[in-house]
Amino acid sequence: MLQPSNLCIMELPFAESYKIKMVEPIRKSSREERETWIRDAGYNLFRLKSDQVFIDLLTDSGTGAMSDKQWSEMMLGDESYAGASSYYKMKNAISEVLGFDHFLPTHQGRAAENVLFSVLIKEGDIIPGNTHFDTTKGHIEFRKAVPVDCTIDEAFDTTLSHPFKGNLDPLKLENILKSHSDKIPFIIVTVTCNSSGGQPVSIENLKMVRQLADKYGKIVIFDSARFAENAYFIKLREDGFKDKSIRYIVREMFSCADVMTMSAKKDAIVNMGGFIAMRSKELHAKASMFNIMFEGYITYGGMSGRDMNALAQGLYEGTEFEYLETRIRQVGYLGQRLMDFGIPVQQPIGGHAVFVDAKRFLPNLAKEEFQAQTLAVELYLEAGIRGVEIGALLADRDPVSRENRYPVLELMRLAIPRRVYTYNHMDVVAVALKNIYDRRDTIRKGLKIVDEAPIMRHFTVALDLA
Ligand code: F0G
Repeated sequence: MLQPSNLCIMELPFAESYKIKMVEPIRKSSREERETWIRDAGYNLFRLKSDQVFIDLLTDSGTGAMSDKQWSEMMLGDESYAGASSYYKMKNAISEVLGFDHFLPTHQGRAAENVLFSVLIKEGDIIPGNTHFDTTKGHIEFRKAVPVDCTIDEAFDTTLSHPFKGNLDPLKLENILKSHSDKIPFIIVTVTCNSSGGQPVSIENLKMVRQLADKYGKIVIFDSARFAENAYFIKLREDGFKDKSIRYIVREMFSCADVMTMSAKKDAIVNMGGFIAMRSKELHAKASMFNIMFEGYITYGGMSGRDMNALAQGLYEGTEFEYLETRIRQVGYLGQRLMDFGIPVQQPIGGHAVFVDAKRFLPNLAKEEFQAQTLAVELYLEAGIRGVEIGALLADRDPVSRENRYPVLELMRLAIPRRVYTYNHMDVVAVALKNIYDRRDTIRKGLKIVDEAPIMRHFTVALDLA
């Protein structure tokens, strides 16, 4: 008999915390087909038909797979116009998981911004935050107010590894609060910070924001699309939270906020939905008026009863540690494979996506030729994979000078839908990108704009080869 000392006990590998009950076929295509399709789409990946895409990493928003429990909740939806039980189910989940007593349903995250900002922002205001997401920036600039980015400098160097690259810089924040206090209605903190690479904000930093807000008498809003992923990183990286549950950390995070906006299409794992939650009854009353005008009555706000039920269930599932571990480890796996190939990515790897540094990937291209968009088109041509540009196209023109804005980071984002793709899909993406990286010196021409909208142009822009 083998003695225990002679046994070689292998550590069990990591595996997903779910099994698959329903599948949806996807189709490969030829390079020739893709060349025609992308040209016809004006070299804009948003304009492709989804069946022209093999692996779709355009976004992790609304693209997740709902669970058996969420689908059964769909059957229990109460479609009453007013006072539906589904509204109360959502209210309970928001109160239990997030700790807010008042809320308004909206059809998605940007609708929550639209309603809330209609109450809080006026022309000439200044809105400090950590790299505002594009719809947030759009809703601020549309009201002739100015978003000011107070993210720490480390976030803008993709080679630096910092555990909380979503953090706000206390000096930048206090400077703007000191110099423009009368013009600042609130501070907005995006958790995780999408635009800087799905990077988390620490509890310590959230507490700092709260203190400064209190000192200057300001409201704090969390843009909470990926709040649960933020909590997961806090558990893993911040001192004192290793042994705390995700739910505990979530409550600790939100204790620093007065209001939250939520795109439930991310961490509540639904295909459509959102909300605003707040502590103030008065703010709820003011926002209700705009909700009724823009979204729908205050107990459904653009959502059907079944969707509110699935969202409520998603808030519980999305804050389970095993789910988050499965999700974020898969994103990390793709990131690690790319790093092993020497491909430049934003480090450390974020929660929902891998961000490839296109400036460092394609140094031969001028910024005027949209490096990240060029790379995204190359990846589509290589293997039918759809990523998205987070760079100069997304940054839009300056609203006053109408000049192109070139952000410090020019990134191609590969966002991973929740519970949708397997590790084999990640391998295909990694190898496809490696093949492009190996021939990067041959890519000498980028893209130019042919036609564009005045705001949020990236969705519809038409491009051609430069
Ligand atoms: N805030 C953040 C941080 C987001 O990432 C998004 C959407 C929104 C607000 C707006 O929410 O789409 O429900 O209206 N992000 C998606 C993305 C579109 O691909 O990152 P929405």
